[in-house]
Amino acid sequence: MMKVQGMWGLCLVLLVIMFVYAVIGEAQIASFLINCGTNSTVNVDGRRWVGDSNPGNNVTLSSPSIEASTATFNGDSFYSPLYKTARIFSDSLNYTIQGTPGNYFLRLHLYPFSFEKYNVNDSSFAVEANGLTLVSEFNVPGEILHKNTYLQNSGGNSSLSFLLKEFFFTTNANSIVLEFHPTKGSFGFINAIEIVPVDDKLFVDSVNKVGGNGGNSSLNLGRRGVETMYRLNVGGALIKPAQDLDLRRVWEVDSSYMITADAGSGIRNSSNITYASPNDTSVAPLLVYETARTMSNTQVMEKRFNMSWKFEVDPDFDYLVRLHFCELVYDRANQRTFRIYINNRTAANNFDIFVRAGGMNKAYHQDYFDMVSSDISTLWIQLGPDTTTSAAETDALLNGLEIFKLSRNGNLAHLRPYGNLGEHKTSKGVIFWLGIGAGVASVVVLTAVVIMIVCFCKKRRNKQNDTKENLPGWRSLFLLGAATNSTANAKASTENQNPYGSVATVRSRRRFTLADIRSATNNFDEGLVIGVGGFGKVFKGEIEGGTLAAIKRANPQSQQGLAEFETEIEMLSKLRHRHLVSMIGFCDEQNEMILVYEYMANGTLRSHLFGSDLPPLSWKQRLDVCIGAARGLHYLHTGSERGIIHRDVKTTNILLDEDFVAKMADFGLSKTGPSLEHTHVSTAVKGSFGYLDPEYFRRQQLTEKSDVYSFGVVLFEVVCARAVINPSLPKDQINLAEWAMRWQRQRSLETIIDPQLQGNYSPESFMRFGEIAEKCLADEGKSRPTMGEVLWHLEYVLQVHEAWLHGNAGENSFSSSQALRTLADRQAEAQEVAISNVEACSEPKVKKDGEYTPGTDKSDALVVGVDEFSQLVKPQGR
Ligand SMILES: *[C@@H]1O[C@H](CO)[C@@H](O)[C@H](O)[C@H]1NC(C)=O
Ligand SMILES: *[C@@H]1O[C@H](CO)[C@@H](O)[C@H](O)[C@H]1NC(C)=O
Ligand SMILES: *[C@@H]1O[C@H](CO)[C@@H](O)[C@H](O)[C@H]1NC(C)=O
Ligand SMILES: *[C@@H]1O[C@H](CO)[C@@H](O)[C@H](O)[C@H]1NC(C)=O
Ligand SMILES: *[C@@H]1O[C@H](CO)[C@@H](O)[C@H](O)[C@H]1NC(C)=O
Ligand SMILES: *[C@@H]1O[C@H](CO)[C@@H](O)[C@H](O)[C@H]1NC(C)=O
Ligand SMILES: *[C@@H]1O[C@H](CO)[C@@H](O)[C@H](O)[C@H]1NC(C)=O
Ligand SMILES: *[C@@H]1O[C@H](CO)[C@@H](O)[C@H](O)[C@H]1NC(C)=O
Ligand SMILES: *[C@@H]1O[C@H](CO)[C@@H](O)[C@H](O)[C@H]1NC(C)=O
Ligand SMILES: *[C@@H]1O[C@H](CO)[C@@H](O)[C@H](O)[C@H]1NC(C)=O
Repeated sequence: MMKVQGMWGLCLVLLVIMFVYAVIGEAQIASFLINCGTNSTVNVDGRRWVGDSNPGNNVTLSSPSIEASTATFNGDSFYSPLYKTARIFSDSLNYTIQGTPGNYFLRLHLYPFSFEKYNVNDSSFAVEANGLTLVSEFNVPGEILHKNTYLQNSGGNSSLSFLLKEFFFTTNANSIVLEFHPTKGSFGFINAIEIVPVDDKLFVDSVNKVGGNGGNSSLNLGRRGVETMYRLNVGGALIKPAQDLDLRRVWEVDSSYMITADAGSGIRNSSNITYASPNDTSVAPLLVYETARTMSNTQVMEKRFNMSWKFEVDPDFDYLVRLHFCELVYDRANQRTFRIYINNRTAANNFDIFVRAGGMNKAYHQDYFDMVSSDISTLWIQLGPDTTTSAAETDALLNGLEIFKLSRNGNLAHLRPYGNLGEHKTSKGVIFWLGIGAGVASVVVLTAVVIMIVCFCKKRRNKQNDTKENLPGWRSLFLLGAATNSTANAKASTENQNPYGSVATVRSRRRFTLADIRSATNNFDEGLVIGVGGFGKVFKGEIEGGTLAAIKRANPQSQQGLAEFETEIEMLSKLRHRHLVSMIGFCDEQNEMILVYEYMANGTLRSHLFGSDLPPLSWKQRLDVCIGAARGLHYLHTGSERGIIHRDVKTTNILLDEDFVAKMADFGLSKTGPSLEHTHVSTAVKGSFGYLDPEYFRRQQLTEKSDVYSFGVVLFEVVCARAVINPSLPKDQINLAEWAMRWQRQRSLETIIDPQLQGNYSPESFMRFGEIAEKCLADEGKSRPTMGEVLWHLEYVLQVHEAWLHGNAGENSFSSSQALRTLADRQAEAQEVAISNVEACSEPKVKKDGEYTPGTDKSDALVVGVDEFSQLVKPQGR
């Protein structure tokens, strides 16, 4: 008896030992946790992080490098012990880690601190893992600033002080080689490296394709790099790595990514949640499924989406969107069905979590594959009612969300034009933990950027209430690139063509030395002056590589100029648009304030209208220019809820490039600029008087409609080709706006038309054009059209004129009055159009089947117009 009991005991002990061995063995052998730049080992969240210079850590360092340490960790993070040391390298450095083949999460911990002569703001480096490029030209402070700004301005409460980049990769090799390459002349650093094994059930290969009508795509992850862009615990609190024991992930709160944060309300129920499939245990911790967001207002069932999240992403990559669901409320099917949209395309219809997950309280996820093209840098995820459904409830629900970026060609890196680092205020102590791959879209995008600008406006306003002493000098705007190696940095950044193409070829952070500028402008040769602005002179110069540039040098005495200068940099370093002049760089040495812009070969619009020997512009060219400028202004006005007001719209601020593409310039007076009195003075001084909105004058209230007014004056100037104020003329003609309006009201604007245009324009287009200008000059701002409407009408005018040109050229006749209708006249004219000419179908832009072939630069609104029109004239066409 005793013997048997003893044997049982022994077995039990053995079992326990085996079990413990299995658990510990798996947990310890598998992860590699490296504390860089030290030989000491620290314990963080219950794990041992071995120093990278500690012998016997299975890590080999290829080349000599510097061990740096900081006494102060400027923030509060559960990783702070790791962030007190870093390894700094000015030459390529390899970390070779002996491991086993498999799937891993690789996390790079980057906490920027300066050490001796290494100013971390100057760091820039690339990282490769087993041959896959993860980042290149990576500037950590710039990334952090970008992410903080983005989050703060979308209502987040973020003051991140470090970066955690997470990648997923699969290796067949027995070792992992991490190569760090500093950008030439710069250096790189790394604080900690975390390699966590992942089981192969985390991703399945075949996933639904967005907009693919139920079709699937093969992810091919084995041949791609994967970066975690976002990981959110929707409707719940931050989940720290210690709460996601398996994979040590961080799950951010989602509210700052919601477009309207109160469109969804958080719910919570932690009772008895289980995974829908036993394979899913590593997909997310159950904690993620305990909270969710549902629509706040299910009574108001418009067709509009109710819950929307918006993310900045890098263009030209594929994305895997993983949505986590768990039905916490209903215990039956058909109670909650909804539709999922990803970037405005349907990812799923009739989505019923209960049905898909196989019950209530079942943790379930669904993956979607989406390709993001090179002109898109946001990812919208929207959940809304499915109007076609018969379900009792149309409410939607979401528990968690992940976005992974997938490489297309062995490269995950995306170059970002780092904005300025100066405006950022770090509130010490409040560190909101957000680590996941802050490497979001690099191109400054309308959506994000505009939010930033709005914030900047706020800040400016706040700042103006502060005491002057608290104002940071304008110099603090530029913190990237120190004087010591600025040339190298500048070179490096110019070599990087902005992958976003047409907008700007170089990144906006480029810093020039004064010597560069002097040599570019032949030591500020007066002969190279191409303009004199409110605050200084503009020179034509040739920057290295022979690129022509417009170099604007501020007069350092002028406080006024300084403020405008600052505004302009702020605006321009964030704004990118085909119809806004872009900034190449700046120089801030020796009290100089110099801005370098793309060179606009054809100068100002004004110079092509009058006062020079330049050949006159044709009516079509003038329309194209007006449309371009209107597009630029429309972008400024509508990018955000609050918009940006240019404030100084005039023909000398509309510049033309070598192809006569119009771009708005001179943001020195934009809304966020100096106080009202200042602006007033400055605009008067700069001779913009004839453009000023009288309502703005009277009420001192600036709105977008003031720009519309000024733009209306520009339109008249384009028609009449004379100065807006010409004191040498008889009294009633001095002010163009008044004079032209008098003729326009009598419908005889043609009387004062630029003689150069005589006969070479379509009369109808001219008439419409005059009407637009007239509307823009309405006395009251609220009666004026928006820039969007102006743009739309101008597009129409151009169409009319082009049709007329066609007709004149003896081609298939296409009378303008038959072609298209303005937005306002659409209904009134609809019948007339339909009756008057059915031949319009043979117009080249309208194909036989009624489909519109978009021109190169036509607005969407116009597309709609044509489409509807072709339906009208040929009802059987569709
Ligand atoms: C770690 O480095 C310090 C000095 O850099 C040295 O004094 C110490 O002995 C080292 N410890 C180990 C375990 O190598
Ligand atoms: C190094 O690798 C060996 C065998 O793979 C393992 O037993 C040991 O724990 C590793 N050491 C560290 C510090 O990870
Ligand atoms: C780093 O590793 C790569 C690939 O294994 C190798 O080609 C390169 O020479 C190594 N660099 C250094 C500095 O050892
Ligand atoms: C920001 O975060 C702090 C600490 O987490 C909190 O006390 C404060 O209320 C938050 N502010 C806002 C506006 O959310
Ligand atoms: C498509 O992918 C989903 C997972 O996202 C999977 O459940 C389904 O079986 C796949 N369909 C096909 C035809 O492979
Ligand atoms: C949570 O769910 C359970 C059923 O799983 C339900 O009985 C309970 O009332 C729910 N609690 C709340 C607060 O909704
Ligand atoms: C949770 O599950 C257990 C066993 O599966 C069951 O006894 C219990 O009633 C459940 N609790 C709730 C709140 O559903
Ligand atoms: C779980 O994964 C295994 C292999 O990884 C697969 O064969 C099995 O079908 C999966 N089970 C479910 C329910 O998806
Ligand atoms: C999706 O629609 C929104 C709102 O209409 C728009 O702002 C956004 O640019 C669209 N996104 C894409 C990728 O088309
Ligand atoms: C780096 O730039 C930031 C700007 O946000 C500034 O606060 C910080 O002092 C700079 N660091 C150094 C070492 O220049």
